[in-house]
Amino acid sequence: MGPSAPSSPVQGHTSVLCCLWWQQSSTTHHRGDLFSYPAHYSGDLDCVFIPHGVIMDRTERLARNIMDDLGDHDIVVLCVLKGGYQFCADLVDRIKALSRNSNRSIPMRVHFIRLKSYLNDRSTEDLHILGAEDLSFLAGKNVLIVEAIVGTGKTMKTLLKHVEAFRPKMIKVAGLLVKRVPHNWACLPDYVGFEIPNRFVVGYALDYNEYFRDLNHICVISESGKIKYKI
Ligand code: HPA
Ligand code: MG
Repeated sequence: MGPSAPSSPVQGHTSVLCCLWWQQSSTTHHRGDLFSYPAHYSGDLDCVFIPHGVIMDRTERLARNIMDDLGDHDIVVLCVLKGGYQFCADLVDRIKALSRNSNRSIPMRVHFIRLKSYLNDRSTEDLHILGAEDLSFLAGKNVLIVEAIVGTGKTMKTLLKHVEAFRPKMIKVAGLLVKRVPHNWACLPDYVGFEIPNRFVVGYALDYNEYFRDLNHICVISESGKIKYKI
């Protein structure tokens, strides 16, 4: 990807300097491009990590890979809320578009479950799974779990165990982001959008104490942003 011309800031939005982002194991980083984001987050962000357009392009490719693997089956999509809502909506949208434009139409059901384990930027010990009490309709089905972010993989492991108990035919996991933390290789999603360094990120539905979900890009929160929205 070559550098693109800086776009002029949209009125009511603030520009931020893109710092660096890594894809897969590459050490290449891109910096110097300007992006726009809501003015109410002015000063709350260190850098744009993954611009919205890049997320969308990658999501389209993941949708294609999922279609190639699962295109002949019914799918039950299990969207992990709250952070996964945007990725899930965009992924399902791309699968539907690919399905429309090919002769392979996939019947899809979308179900939502909610996990909560983070306070401020720290993972707490108690993981709550809500809306997943009775998943007996998953028996014999092909399940695609859609998660925004995988850190240590502990949450994903717990969730997989919970879903497996309802005896689906197959379980695949799509994770938009995988953090590069020691030992998470034991439990990686089948479909990974981006591998990122172990930093707390926000935007594209990922929150810090419920803030920043209304930010399109995936960004790194600044120290002053953490203090401003701390509870
Ligand atoms: N950002 C937001 N929510 C999260 C993160 C993160 O980096 N990691 C786990 N939940
Ligand atoms: Mg959260």
